[in-house]
Formats: sequence, structure tokens, C-alpha cells
Amino acid sequence: MQHFRPASGPFYSGSTPNCCEPGAILLYYNVGVEFILREFKREDFEILWDIDQKCFSPGISYSRLELAAYIRRRGSLTIIAESADAKGGAQSPGIVGFIVAEVDRRGMGHIITIDVRAAGRRFGVGSGLLAAAEDQLRAVRCPGVRLETAVDNLGALAFYKRHGYFLERTIPHYYSNGVDALILRKDLLPQAKSS
Ligand SMILES: CC(C)(COP(=O)(O)OP(=O)(O)OC[C@H]1O[C@@H](n2cnc3c(N)ncnc32)[C@H](O)[C@@H]1OP(=O)(O)O)[C@@H](O)C(=O)NCCC(=O)NCCS
Repeated sequence: MQHFRPASGPFYSGSTPNCCEPGAILLYYNVGVEFILREFKREDFEILWDIDQKCFSPGISYSRLELAAYIRRRGSLTIIAESADAKGGAQSPGIVGFIVAEVDRRGMGHIITIDVRAAGRRFGVGSGLLAAAEDQLRAVRCPGVRLETAVDNLGALAFYKRHGYFLERTIPHYYSNGVDALILRKDLLPQAKSS
């Protein structure tokens, strides 16, 4: 289990115009988001599904069946980011975010989804989850990792660019709402070759 406390960040007070999750308790984050990373437990599932519904629009978010299948799939890993004092108070937001990744049939890493609650964004939670998943993929000798993201998801594109992902190709009309996907990739091991 890893503990993270962001060294610095845009700590805000009160409401923020970027927050789009109804009922989010923003004041909790005035002192930053201190969180732990841990493995997925079965009882987390409904919360993860709910976070996914809020992170993505209909047509891009997963059904319960889809999300459960990705989490259970052979070679997949799910990491949870949880508020470090989740047990300690009624205002605790508990699970702040999660990532689902897998080793695909060709041995490449694949990020299936990464979701952080709107109120917990821009405090390093996504970076912590991504780094932990990349570490686990590296540990099983994945040469690289790929993912799909919508061309209009500018926040995600900035996030992945910051973490060293580059554009591999575009898939037209990938999403059910007709939006194109960008396939991004990052090499995880030295001298990784395309596959
Ligand atoms: C993308 C996502 C996972 C990022 O999580 P996060 O916890 O906010 O990420 P971090 O705080 O670690 O961000 C690190 C850096 O990424 C970049 N970044 C993240 N979100 C950004 C945004 N909305 N706009 C611009 N840059 C952004 C910034 O460089 C940021 O550093 P900074 O805050 O110091 O400027 C989160 O916004 C999210 O869950 N979005 C909805 C779901 C989604 O789109 N997932 C990805 C597609 S699969």
C-alpha cells in the first residue's frame, strides 16, 4: 500500500468552477488530498461504477456488466485511491478514484479506464494511480502501454502528455456517440519495440 501527499498543488477553498460532481464536499480538499493506493475489493464495485458514470458521458461510461468484466478479466489489475482518513469522519469521501489496466494478448499494457472524482482532481491522485499501474505493468515486463481517449477530452490529453504518452493513431467514430478516439502510447522499458 502506498501513501501519497501531494507536495504542492492548487489548493482551493470553498467552491470551484471546475467541480461538476453534485454534492461534492469541496472543503475537504482545502488541505490537499492525502490518499492511499490499495488493491480492489469486491465491495468497492458499486462505488467505482458510480464514479465512472460521473466521469464519462452516456455512451462512453461503462455499464455494470462491462466494468465488472474488465475488472475480472485475466491479466487485469484495478488500483483504488482512497482518502487516507477514509475511516475517520462523516465528511470523508472514501474512494477518490481508480484505474483499471491489463496486459493484453500481445503482452502490451493497456489502460482501460482511469477515473478521479471531480472534487479530487488536480491534486496528484490520477498521477499516483497511473504511476502505480505503470509500475505493475513494468514489473511483468510489459514493453509499453496503450490507451484510447476521446479527441475532445482535453483534460485527459493534457494529463497523458504530461506523463510521457504520445499519439500513435486515430480511430474514427470509435465511441458510440461518434467521437473519434486517439490511441496514445508510452514505452515502459528501455528499447521497447512497437508491436
Ligand atoms: C484525467 C484524470 C484521471 C486526471 O486525474 P487528476 O487526479 O486530476 O490528475 P493529476 O492531479 O495527477 O494531474 C496531473 C497533471 O495532469 C494535467 N492535467 C490533469 N487534468 C487536467 C485538465 N483538466 N486540464 C489540463 N491539464 C490537466 C496537468 O498537467 C496536471 O498537473 P497540474 O494540476 O499541476 O497542472 C481526471 O481528470 C479524470 O478522472 N477525468 C475524467 C475521466 C477521464 O477523462 N479519464 C481519462 C480518459 S481514459
